[in-house]
Amino acid sequence: MLTNLVPLGLLLAPLARAHIALWHEAMFGLNYPDQADSSTQNYNNNEPVNPLKEASNFTTAQWFGHGLKSYPPSPGKFLDLPSGGDFLGELQCNRQQTTLGDPNNPDPNQLRLYACDDTNGPPGALHNMNPRGPNPNRSLFGGSCLAISYTSNVAQLRPSDMTVISCNHTSPWWRLTRYEIPSGLPECGQDGCLCTWNWIHQAASGEGYGNEIYNALYRCKVSGQTNNLNMIPVGSPPELCESDCTPRPQAPIYIFQKDGNNMPRPTSLESIPIYQDKYGFRDGAQVGILQAVSSSSPGSTSNASPTATSTSDRSSGPWSSSAPTTTPSSAVTSSACRSVSIGYMVSMIGTCLYALSQTDITTFQPLLSFVVRWLSFRM
Ligand SMILES: *[C@@H]1O[C@H](CO)[C@@H](O)[C@H](O)[C@H]1NC(C)=O
Ligand SMILES: *[C@@H]1O[C@H](CO)[C@@H](O)[C@H](O)[C@H]1NC(C)=O
Ligand SMILES: *[C@@H]1O[C@H](CO)[C@@H](O)[C@H](O)[C@H]1NC(C)=O
Repeated sequence: MLTNLVPLGLLLAPLARAHIALWHEAMFGLNYPDQADSSTQNYNNNEPVNPLKEASNFTTAQWFGHGLKSYPPSPGKFLDLPSGGDFLGELQCNRQQTTLGDPNNPDPNQLRLYACDDTNGPPGALHNMNPRGPNPNRSLFGGSCLAISYTSNVAQLRPSDMTVISCNHTSPWWRLTRYEIPSGLPECGQDGCLCTWNWIHQAASGEGYGNEIYNALYRCKVSGQTNNLNMIPVGSPPELCESDCTPRPQAPIYIFQKDGNNMPRPTSLESIPIYQDKYGFRDGAQVGILQAVSSSSPGSTSNASPTATSTSDRSSGPWSSSAPTTTPSSAVTSSACRSVSIGYMVSMIGTCLYALSQTDITTFQPLLSFVVRWLSFRM
């Protein structure tokens, strides 16, 4: 199906011209052009890494998730995002250069320190002007980010459903790239969430080749320090905010496509938006992206979707993670009541014991029996 949609040149892109993506068993299109579970494994796959160029004029169906929604990962494969911890992503130009390469025919460049090792050519696919080395100049990177949507329904997933949760400003550079996962993320339902990896490269500073984006799709799950009383509103379109950015849930940057863009078309290389501070994308875990689950979704459990799916939802609550002011759900209320009751009970027992020590048992008896009855009612 995809073959009918993409220009032939894209499919035949030679390896040397390949670009980059985050490779994982949970990636849509890992084994393109075959399905993930096929007995034929395409270790030489570089389809998901090809740039989504303005000249290709892709529709949303063609560019979002790299047009690979119908090439799902094998059942049970998820990116495991540890809330409050780190996710190590494997950035490479070709599947063969990753831990998912051909086990019987390992590529000599497979597991190098750097993404898209330049042994066989210049590191042009990384689109920054740094010479290889341990201390690259951070201001020359475009940065890459992970975004999430709390749904497993890939058919209905739209670009605007995504919220960026983590960025790495110094990427792509190393093969194993760290993404800090914010703490307090809600868990995903049984079938997981959907995540994207997003990169826009630096086009200024001499790099000069710009009008494209990168977008790959994965099934993902959230583990670690989760908090199901939080939800993540859908991200709003990013904006140039320079040094005055308000932390808030943001969508990835979508530009240069036929449709589905969420920012104006840049008019110069310097004005191409990138995943750096001046567009409100922090290095590491994003802040200001959590909102307390509102009373309108009572009994939210890990199976319910904690993501707001309409834009109206996100206009109601606070965008800062620090001060959730929405009404707690009924589940919260009842558990809060129970702890208040238990606190009250403990203080009453204290009062009773004090009274007991001050007086004789006969005067104390009615109070004691009231406490016992009240207790048995509460428990
Ligand atoms: C994309 O295609 C539309 C017509 O479908 C055309 O109007 C537009 O100019 C094209 N854009 C590019 C960048 O080729
Ligand atoms: C990093 O690159 C920027 C942009 O070219 C330049 O202004 C800056 O001086 C560089 N920093 C270092 C430490 O080389
Ligand atoms: C970006 O990834 C590199 C390589 O894994 C890592 O050293 C660095 O700490 C990461 N930055 C952040 C902010 O996570």
